[in-house]
Amino acid sequence: MVIGIGADHGGYVLKPSVIKAIEQLGFDYIDYGTYSEDSCDYPDYALKVANAVKSGEVDRGILLCGTGIGICIAANKVKGVRCGHVTDLFSAKATAEHNDANIISMGGRITSPELAEQITKVFLTTEFAGGRHQRRIDKITEIENNN
Ligand code: RB5
Repeated sequence: MVIGIGADHGGYVLKPSVIKAIEQLGFDYIDYGTYSEDSCDYPDYALKVANAVKSGEVDRGILLCGTGIGICIAANKVKGVRCGHVTDLFSAKATAEHNDANIISMGGRITSPELAEQITKVFLTTEFAGGRHQRRIDKITEIENNN
């Protein structure tokens, strides 16, 4: 499995923990930036990772900004992307299992590096449950296609 990582300056602090988790799971990753704490615009990194997920260049994505919210909103504008904003382990599992999330976002100003590492591991090792949840995903896709 290949994971795409994208961060702005506010999420940059969590990048080492996310990379550590991915490496410990034995997965590969592509780092789409940013590569320093210099101020930058989170939509640019959301778009890079969202497009990589959409095209199949990567299997899943992890996005990081100050809160995890802006980068999540931006990623969800790309067709086929289901990005869940995650701040706890329950949500990390549920968004993979129920929402078939292909990206999660976290905030460097609200989530600790230790928790970010755990969240990354839970998200990347949880499969979509299908069943009744597929019906709901189909409805999300319908909204996306009609609006
Ligand atoms: C950047 O200052 C900050 O707005 C950004 O990282 C993020 O929190 C947006 O949602």
